[in-house]
Amino acid sequence: MTKMDKETLVAEIVKLKTELNAVILAHYYQLPEIQDVADILGDSLALSRRAAKTEADIIVFCGVNFMAETAAIVSPDKKVLIPQKNVGCYLADTITVDKLLEFKKKHPRAEVICYVNTTAAIKAESDICCTSSNSIKVVNSISPEKEIIFIPDKNLCDYTSKETNRDLICFQGACDTHTDIKIYDIEKILKNHPKAKIMAHPECNSDVLEIADYVGSTTGMLKYAKSSLEKEFIVATEIGIIHQLKQDNPDKEFYPLEEAICPTMKLITLESLYRCLKEQKYEVKVDEAIAQKARGAIERMLEI
Ligand code: 13P
Repeated sequence: MTKMDKETLVAEIVKLKTELNAVILAHYYQLPEIQDVADILGDSLALSRRAAKTEADIIVFCGVNFMAETAAIVSPDKKVLIPQKNVGCYLADTITVDKLLEFKKKHPRAEVICYVNTTAAIKAESDICCTSSNSIKVVNSISPEKEIIFIPDKNLCDYTSKETNRDLICFQGACDTHTDIKIYDIEKILKNHPKAKIMAHPECNSDVLEIADYVGSTTGMLKYAKSSLEKEFIVATEIGIIHQLKQDNPDKEFYPLEEAICPTMKLITLESLYRCLKEQKYEVKVDEAIAQKARGAIERMLEI
């Protein structure tokens, strides 16, 4: 492919997506230029909902594998494409089906809540899915007498346990991008910007969550920043969200944790998105037997 400039690439992407009746879904952790060309931007929950409802023939997912897989599961009649191969998620890889089955054996009567950051095979072995924006609602939807296994993120599990006042059996997985955010780094920013409010994603360690003024999903942070009268915010999540925060709030200042970069979220570029539409690759397919079981867990969440 001869190298195209950014403007031409964007124009070609828009042309191709219209010809193919494709919709581009992107997560807030994507590169700014991908966020700008997307039809729908959202957190994990919003993207799952939109993928389930779209009228398009093709869904192009700019995110990580588990997100594209979720789209393929909820929209089995659509073609789902992802612009790069092997866009993994460190957190999703912390749990295997064998480990989950072992957990279930120890707690045979427990309901299994799986964070959306899991593979389709893990969702297939779970009762209900959740995201960081609805984990509290999902736990509250389960009878108080029931034991609950919560996989795989230990920080989201502890946070949800505290907020719901329920004992949850937590798997000990974690997202390294979020757990690498240290209090010390936040305090360094606070020294120069003492009035800044701290927003943190529930995948962060508990000491970070304790000092945060707001804890929530990426969409939650966007809403908090927009509705707040404050002018300065420290953003304890993946750096990609800064783009949307600045677009929504040109009069406010956002201070990212510079090291909080999810390497796989950054693999998708305008070039790979263009190639994806042009060559209709890489298609994301989920084995139908697994998809059928996983669909139950996702649909149960979407009904809440
Ligand atoms: P959100 O659902 O808050 O967008 O989080 C997605 C994610 O993968 C966090 O690591």
